[in-house]
Amino acid sequence: MHIALTLNGAPATAELSPETTLLHWLRETRGLMAAKPGCEIGRCGACAVLLDGRLVNACLVLAWQADGAAVITAEGLEALPQGRAARAALGEESAFQCGYCAPGMSVALTAWLLAGQGEAHEALAGNLCRCTGYGGVLRAAARARPG
Ligand code: FES
Ligand code: FES
Repeated sequence: MHIALTLNGAPATAELSPETTLLHWLRETRGLMAAKPGCEIGRCGACAVLLDGRLVNACLVLAWQADGAAVITAEGLEALPQGRAARAALGEESAFQCGYCAPGMSVALTAWLLAGQGEAHEALAGNLCRCTGYGGVLRAAARARPG
């Protein structure tokens, strides 16, 4: 299949098989390694990316479903004011230990800031961290969007 999309702000095309997931296409073809293969069944959020501004788990999206869409991975967050705010706040709160969950958390926090509504703990409920708990992440959310 042939697809054309916008990837981290730049045009991209691909020839791929219908069963290729967005996660594997990003990692294995595009070399974008921030989205992580954690559970690969939609339970951990380690593979989170933005698809037309919406938070999705890239392990559950077939790459062809991104045809015509705008995909932003954790590598592309710096281009968004909300992405910069999320990353800065997570850093200031030293929110991570091993960092495996960090890209997905950063993307989810950015999606929450883009939405501009809702509770942070609900927006981040799909992102699991095995190391540090969630205190730093929630403090970062409060720092990035006070009140
Ligand atoms: S790897 Fe996609 S949700 Fe866990
Ligand atoms: S810091 Fe290790 S999984 Fe979150």
